[in-house]
Amino acid sequence: MQKNENSRAVLLTGGAGYIGSHIAVELAAAGKQTVIVDNLRNASEDALRGIAEITGSEPVFYRVDARDKDAMREIVKCHGIADVIHLAGLKSVAESTKEPLEYYNVNLGTTLTLLEVLLESGEGRIIFSSSATVYGIPDHVPVTEEAIAGRCFNPYGRTKYFNEQIINDVVAASEGKLSAVLLRYFNPIGAHPSGLIGEVPTGVPNNLMPYITQVAAGKREKLYIYGNDYETRDGTGVRDYIHVVDLARGHVKALEWLESHGKGKVEIFNLGTGQGRSVLEIVETFQRVNNIKIPYEFAPRRPGDIAEYYADPSKAERELGWRAELSLEDMCRDAWNAEKTLQSRAKKG
Ligand code: NAD
Ligand code: UD1
Repeated sequence: MQKNENSRAVLLTGGAGYIGSHIAVELAAAGKQTVIVDNLRNASEDALRGIAEITGSEPVFYRVDARDKDAMREIVKCHGIADVIHLAGLKSVAESTKEPLEYYNVNLGTTLTLLEVLLESGEGRIIFSSSATVYGIPDHVPVTEEAIAGRCFNPYGRTKYFNEQIINDVVAASEGKLSAVLLRYFNPIGAHPSGLIGEVPTGVPNNLMPYITQVAAGKREKLYIYGNDYETRDGTGVRDYIHVVDLARGHVKALEWLESHGKGKVEIFNLGTGQGRSVLEIVETFQRVNNIKIPYEFAPRRPGDIAEYYADPSKAERELGWRAELSLEDMCRDAWNAEKTLQSRAKKG
């Protein structure tokens, strides 16, 4: 490993994944050097090629488990890392209920290692990918950052909440060496408009948009809409869907905020649009924008689902100077474009 004397890069753990690859592109657009660490457990080098094609330069990449303390220490030292965007982890709610130990091991282990290594190095600014799932069933919508957190329903959600608590405790004890932003994502969908990076789920998708794009591609026969008897405007579940490019830009803003205002602090921001959309609205928009029929059938409610939640994103707008700009139409168009582009590339090998 060669020491990079010129600039201090941003370490992006989980940077070959769906959200991480989009963050890598936005960091490059902001003129920041990026070092990606990913063990490729749920990603492939195709994402790295996509990032290179979009940005015009190969990202620095280490195929490393972010729990490997020796390797992480070496990377932090060689690249003079102080800024970290930490996404590495496992994200399937269903899997987390079957393999809770693995989820605690990976999702907490990666964070613990990172905190240890940064403390050793003497300073660190951490952006952590948390989730609106930490709000459980919120008492009010839109959900503000002051809403009670920690009433999570599953091991995945608890790993997000525990990580938030761990980061709080370690920053508080660090005597100003560390600071952090906890970003609570609502529902990221869509893809970079080039279609060169996107969401590539393994197996049957759990989340709505990747399921819809697979129905559109003919990989699945129809969409099952989980519940049409919720107390919402059309009976189907309501969520705050946010374009992944907007979400990625929120990380760049959060990093700039941490550098200028965040010393010694831990601050929480919701990243959402502030608008709730129902499942039927998503299906309708997808069909209209892409001119494709999505056959669907109503099915029983999915256990653990809630009727409705969406963000109050005004704190991020006020303090980070960020707000979501892309529309639901953009999300549906870009998701389908990426599905087609990535599929045709996979066929060509
Ligand atoms: P993803 O699975 O595409 O990305 C996670 C990446 O982490 C993958 O590339 C995977 O290979 C890597 N990884 C897993 N374990 C690792 C380890 N031990 N060491 C190094 N790399 C490892 O998921 P995503 O959708 O891009 O999510 C990124 C982060 O955002 C996750 O922490 C997830 O929990 C969080 N998040 C995602 C959503 C969402 O809807 N996608 C919502 C809220 C929060
Ligand atoms: C889910 C997770 C949440 C996690 C988030 C990551 C559960 C219970 N919640 O959130 O913890 O942070 O993913 O993105 O798994 N739907 C269908 N048919 C489908 C898939 C989904 O009707 O095939 C509906 C759901 O009932 C829900 C909406 O679409 O109303 C969105 O679902 P999804 O994309 O899975 O996101 P969340 O449930 O919000």
